[in-house]
Amino acid sequence: LITPVILAGGIGSRLWPLSRQAMPKQFLPLLDAEPTGQSLLQNTLTRVTGRVFNRAILVCNEQHRFIAAEQAASANPRALLLEPTGKNTAPAIALAAHYALQNGITGPLLVMPADHHINNFNLLTEQLHGATILAEQGKLVTFSITPTEPHTGYGYIKQGSAITGTDCFEVAEFKEKPSLTTATSYLLDGSYSWNSGMFLFTAAAYLQELARFAPKIANCVANAANFSQDLGFTRPSAKTLEACPSDSIDYAILERSDNVVVMPVALNWSDVGGFSSLAKLLKKDPQGNNVNANYVAQNSKNNLIISETDHTIATLGVSNLAVIHTHDATLIANQNELDALPLLLKKVALTQ
Ligand code: GDD
Ligand code: MG
Repeated sequence: LITPVILAGGIGSRLWPLSRQAMPKQFLPLLDAEPTGQSLLQNTLTRVTGRVFNRAILVCNEQHRFIAAEQAASANPRALLLEPTGKNTAPAIALAAHYALQNGITGPLLVMPADHHINNFNLLTEQLHGATILAEQGKLVTFSITPTEPHTGYGYIKQGSAITGTDCFEVAEFKEKPSLTTATSYLLDGSYSWNSGMFLFTAAAYLQELARFAPKIANCVANAANFSQDLGFTRPSAKTLEACPSDSIDYAILERSDNVVVMPVALNWSDVGGFSSLAKLLKKDPQGNNVNANYVAQNSKNNLIISETDHTIATLGVSNLAVIHTHDATLIANQNELDALPLLLKKVALTQ
């Protein structure tokens, strides 16, 4: 059986003001298309309830423990691991790996972000056989998606030769978040695809690669992994983890290790990373406005209009705007400038 490890510790600042520090995007029912009222996290948990899966290990921030516990309750997770401070994905996955080994889970872990939208996940589960064998042999399996644009927020995987008897390939190169020029050249080249952010490997294989390429993180997490249990919450040693360097699995391991393989999957996948990807998942009116609000428009096109309330939003003679309304904050932005949203948020303590 495969044990899902769900990473739910991100902040989602590119979706402010919908996503807030106290209530990040993975806990929000962000999409019309989602089953009613289910958050991205709940949809992620639903994806891994099939026969091939064990109960999930969830890793999130201490700050969100009650909302995470409440939303995960019906999925009955194996553990809710709490981080005092987010140290990015390399340490978060390491915590889950130690927890797994301490609890006799030696088989493959399927690491998944809690905040993605995928509506044909069964495609991946149906194809997992070869990947599982490779994971059991100590490989780190990545899952890749055909790229559609030179997005600079993703990892890029150059596919090498096929591995016989599996749906997997060697990884010739892994490049995390390339420049726009590089990403554009990858797209033209045609042999690169996007890293989906999901991974399959055993706890032992992951910790071995971590010790090789990020020994400081490996040591800190190993020392912090004397877990304490309290009312269904599992905590590492906060003081030890505080000293751990931050890094992502992508930079710390995947760019460096020669033990990485890739399985391409034709997923309808979105990382719901910012408003442009959210817009692609919303319905459009005939003028090209993406709308999830009470909206009235005159001579307005290609706007993104979202409201958390039933407040009416009306626009006159404007195009290419993002208008994001919530009960206590409204963002009005030029859609071409949305990459700078994190800079705007730095100016004021807006993310609360
Ligand atoms: N528990 C925990 N702790 N979770 C975390 C932390 C942390 O400190 N930091 C991030 N996460 C969670 C996020 O909530 C998200 O679900 C996932 O880990 C990935 O982190 P992101 O910060 O969203 O990474 P990214 O989007 O920049 O890049 C990753 O995903 C891309 C696909 O969406 C990389 O793996 C890229 O290579 C990949 O293309
Ligand atoms: Mg992301």
